[in-house]
Formats: sequence, structure tokens, C-alpha cells
Amino acid sequence: MKIIVGVTGASGVEMSYYLLKALHSIEGCEIHLIVSEGGTRNWGFEMDRPLADLLTLAHIVHDVNDMAAAISSGSFVTAGMIVMPCSMKTLAGIASGYADNLILRAVDVCLKENRRVVLVPRETPLGKVHMLTFYNGPKTIDDQINHIVGKVLMQFGISHDKLVPWKGSAR
Ligand SMILES: Cc1cc2nc3c(=O)[nH]c(=O)nc-3n(C[C@H](O)[C@H](O)[C@H](O)COP(=O)(O)O)c2cc1C
Repeated sequence: MKIIVGVTGASGVEMSYYLLKALHSIEGCEIHLIVSEGGTRNWGFEMDRPLADLLTLAHIVHDVNDMAAAISSGSFVTAGMIVMPCSMKTLAGIASGYADNLILRAVDVCLKENRRVVLVPRETPLGKVHMLTFYNGPKTIDDQINHIVGKVLMQFGISHDKLVPWKGSAR
């Protein structure tokens, strides 16, 4: 399975690190990673580890300006794409088909080929209510991020051992 991950300049780039670690542990999963300029900048602001720690978890790292990369064509078959975190700028570009970098182009291609695309914006109030869960009894930010990663991977039929599923209210 080939999967594309885009990391953009929204707050929460740490989520992409958890995602890459989870994908990296799956045998046979080829990770194509693209980090936007905003993503690189925010990594510097928010993370206390070098960006290289993220890049090293991918099998192929694409330059965000390389519009000739394999993933910019629908003939390169992938399972789909995750943009995590997804900035509002990238979201707007996706919505309007304004594909002026490789993240936007690769999403565009996945959509036209009917492949799965999962966007993970950070924005609130949408984020507060829809992204984070409380039913899984999170104690730490780690627990929250792991749960989000699990929910994202679920979209690709991948189970994540750190996801605590809801099993109904009966105890
Ligand atoms: C510290 C910091 C935090 C940011 N957080 C967000 C955010 O949470 N959501 C967002 O849409 N943009 C955020 N931005 C703005 C984006 O980085 C900016 O719109 C950028 O152009 C996005 O480009 P990209 O989508 O190509 O990465 C933030 C910028 C900085 C410097």
C-alpha cells in the first residue's frame, strides 16, 4: 500500500509525527511525505526535535515544489492521502482546485481518481468538538493525538493499537 501524507503550516505538526510513526510500523506501507514551507516553519516553532526525525520515517520525501513528482499523476496508484495538520489555506486550495504546490496537486489527483483523502484541520470550534474525543478517557495530549491518528488510519482500513474504541454505554 502506498499512502501520501502532506504536512502543512497549521498548528499541531506534532500530529504528523505520531501519524508517520504509526504508518512506519505497518509492514508493506510505502509512505510518500510532503511538507509545505509553512509546515517546515511550524515544525521549527512547535517541535523540540529536528524535522529530519519526521522525514526519516517516510520512504520517499517529495519537494513541495516538485510538480513533476510521480504522485502528481493519477497513473501512480496510491491508497490515498492524509493532510495532517491541514491549514485553512491548503483546505481552500483543495476546495477550489488551486493546485499550486505538490500537496495540493496530489490531493487533487486523489480526488479525481476517487481515492480516499482525509484532511485534519486544527481549527476551532470545529476542532474542539469534532477532532478531539473524550469518551476514550484521555489523560494526556499523547492519548488525544493517538486517538486522532487511530481514527485517521481507520479510514484506510488500518487498525491502530492506541485507539480506544467506543463500545457502547452498557458496562
Ligand atoms: C505559529 C503558526 C501557527 C499557525 N497555525 C495555523 C493554524 O492552526 N491553521 C491555519 O490554517 N494556519 C495557521 N498558520 C498559518 C499558515 O501557516 C499559513 O496560512 C501558511 O501560508 C499555510 O501554508 P501551507 O498550507 O502551504 O502550509 C500558522 C502560522 C504560524 C506561523
